[in-house]
This record gives sequence, C-alpha cells and structure tokens, in this order.
Amino acid sequence: MKRVGLLGCGAIGTQIALAIDSGKIPAELTHVYDASKDSALELVSKLKIKPEIVENSHLLSSHPVNIVVEAASQDAVKDVALSVLQNKRDLMIMSVGALLDESIYDILSDACKDFKKTIYLPSGAIAGLDGIKSIKDELESISITTTKHPRSLKGAKFFEDSDINLDSIVSSTLIFEGTAKEAVSLFPANINVAALLSISGIGSEKTAVKIIADPNTDKNTHHIVATGKFGNMIFSIENFPDSNNPKTSRLAILSAIETLRKYCSDEIQIGT
Ligand SMILES: NC(=O)c1ccc[n+]([C@@H]2O[C@H](COP(=O)([O-])OP(=O)(O)OC[C@H]3O[C@@H](n4cnc5c(N)ncnc54)[C@H](O)[C@@H]3O)[C@@H](O)[C@H]2O)c1
Repeated sequence: MKRVGLLGCGAIGTQIALAIDSGKIPAELTHVYDASKDSALELVSKLKIKPEIVENSHLLSSHPVNIVVEAASQDAVKDVALSVLQNKRDLMIMSVGALLDESIYDILSDACKDFKKTIYLPSGAIAGLDGIKSIKDELESISITTTKHPRSLKGAKFFEDSDINLDSIVSSTLIFEGTAKEAVSLFPANINVAALLSISGIGSEKTAVKIIADPNTDKNTHHIVATGKFGNMIFSIENFPDSNNPKTSRLAILSAIETLRKYCSDEIQIGT
C-alpha cells in the first residue's frame, strides 16, 4: 500500500482523506498538515484511521511517505515542492498556478529528473487535457472563458485595484480579459485551470483567458476552444461548486481523487 502525506485539510484535502479512509483509494494516509491546526484536527476527527498531524509542512516528506499531496495554496507549493522531491517523494499539486512562475517550473522539472520523482497535476476542474497534450505541437490558438457566480470570485487580488463591485453585478459581466499568466496572479484561487491549459499547451502568454461574473448561475463553467493544424477542439464543462468551498468545483475534487487512486493502483491505465 502506498503511503500518503497530505498538505492542506480544506475542501479538497478532506475529500481525498475520506476517499482513502473509505478504501476508495487503496492507500494509507499517514501524515497531514494544515497551517490551521483546527482544520487538521477537524479532518482527523472525521477519519476512522487517524493520521499523525505534523508540526510543519516540511515534516510531511521527512516521513517515509510515497507521495505528498498538496491541496493548500500556491504559497505552499513554492515553500515545500522542492524539498518533497529532494526527499525522494512524489508530489501531487492542486495549486497549479504556482507553476506559471517559470523559475519554479524549471527548478521542479529539473528536480524531477535529478531525484527520479514525478509531479502529478490532476486535470482539476476541466476536461480535455489528454487531447490538448496530444496536439500541443500543432496548436495555434487556445482560449478559456470561465463563468462563475460573483461570490466564487470574492477575495481575488484583482479587486484590490479595480472599481468593480461584485455585490452590485446584476447580469453576466466580463470582469477580466488577458493572458493566463496575468489571470493566475490576479485570481490565484480561481483559475488553476488556465494554468493547467497553459502547461499542457502553448504556454501562459499564448493562452487567452476571459473571466465572467454571472449572478444568475449556480455553476462554475469553463469553455475551452483550441484550434490548429489538427482541427478544432471545443470543450464546455459546467461544474457545480463544492458545498464547502464555492471557489472549488466538485470535478476538481473528483479529479484529485481519481489521480491519486490511479497512482496507488496497479491496473490498466485508460486515456492518454
Ligand atoms: N487544479 C484545479 O483545478 C483546482 C481546483 C480547485 C482548487 N484548486 C486549488 O487547490 C487548493 C486547495 O483547494 P481547496 O478548495 O481545498 O481550498 P480550501 O481553502 O478549502 O483549503 C485549503 C486549506 O489549505 C490550508 N493552507 C493554505 N495555505 C497553506 C500553507 N501554506 N500551508 C499549509 N496549509 C495551508 C488552509 O488553511 C486550508 O485549510 C487551492 O490552492 C485551490 O486554488 C485547484
């Protein structure tokens, strides 16, 4: 059985832990950490088999786990990702936006080779990355339009320097238009999907992003259009937000669980 260390005990971390505890993921959750001790304690209280709560995030990979699963924040990735690989553990990252910092991406990519370890990036709240990866060399343009309820966008850095008042929006309104690189720094908790598309495709400066706030929607919708010599790909994903964290889609949680389940299972692997 694979041994798992979990960094982040929020909406995603909790569901991953419950999936391990119920046997859906054939693994042992041995250690957890969250900057909020209360969140870690609350998570552990829900589990039949209790993992140890460690005192800081770096201690997760100093224990003999096979993989550290990050479901915390971009800062957490920047802080611990390299040391996880140096400790010869695999790593699964949910806060993918952190990798759009090219120096971090290059450092982690080199570390994977140096320490012969793998970083897993689940498809998160979108679908179609298998296709995008395959046609990457023939991709000419790619865009993603994300539509969310204004409450799912609250707290984003973008609004610190903007006149837009989310509470006064009464109909579907374009909030942001730019590159994935700009979007990820301005909406760090909302737009990991744009980071994933960039990394799978032609990079963050060539991936176009629109963000729409719509007070009349109850879904997080991502509409992706890719064109090139291969033909065209159009994906529309309508996600229900998670009940514990409206910024996170249910699909993102299920995708994290499936990625870890696959990592922990010996079986036929489906898809590109
Ligand atoms: N890849 C995707 O498609 C996708 C989709 C949704 C969310 N996410 C990202 O996954 C991460 C987790 O999402 P969530 O919905 O579980 O969030 P959440 O807010 O419900 O939980 C995050 C938890 O991590 C803890 N945390 C934050 N920074 C930390 C740090 N530096 N060290 C230790 N603990 C820290 C918080 O205290 C919190 O308990 C977020 O960064 C989110 O943006 C990615």
